[in-house]
Amino acid sequence: MRNVTLEKVFTHPVAQKYLNRSGMAHAVAVAEYAFSYAQEYHVDPDLAAKAGLLHDIGHYTWYHNGKWDFQLYKDNDIHAIKGANRAHKLLIRSGENRRAAKEIALAILLHTDSYLPEGDLHLKPLQKVVALADEADEEPAGKHHYRKMDYQTALNRIRQLDHRIDHMQNIKGQQCTS
Ligand SMILES: [Fe+2]
Repeated sequence: MRNVTLEKVFTHPVAQKYLNRSGMAHAVAVAEYAFSYAQEYHVDPDLAAKAGLLHDIGHYTWYHNGKWDFQLYKDNDIHAIKGANRAHKLLIRSGENRRAAKEIALAILLHTDSYLPEGDLHLKPLQKVVALADEADEEPAGKHHYRKMDYQTALNRIRQLDHRIDHMQNIKGQQCTS
């Protein structure tokens, strides 16, 4: 059984503030992709969806003379580090299990290597799932951060995802007891 639903995380004022900054439509789509990839990679769909939803909450807006400055962003961005920290704090305050909060924070920390020195990262399955889900929804020049989604549509999709996660967990629970 989950301690915390996706809806509880999504509706938290801190989540709303940062999800709107980095793009609500992208966050919801990545949560859905992460849920789907979770079956393929045999990872917990609840952790995958939460990490997908929160993966970009560390973003800062990099504007220069009223326009997004991609080079400024490239040179200074640490959104995965900031996002991992923010997500961890938010999850713990929402009552998330500490082990789950750590797994989610690590998947957010490693969902991109854009801020890291050159080299290969060896990702665990949950971390891989979040990185793949992010890539699946990416658009050139960061356009995915600007796609809009209204609050009610986003909330409805998050609730649907919660139902699907509960359903998966019920099936798993039944398999364990039979
Ligand atoms: Fe992203």
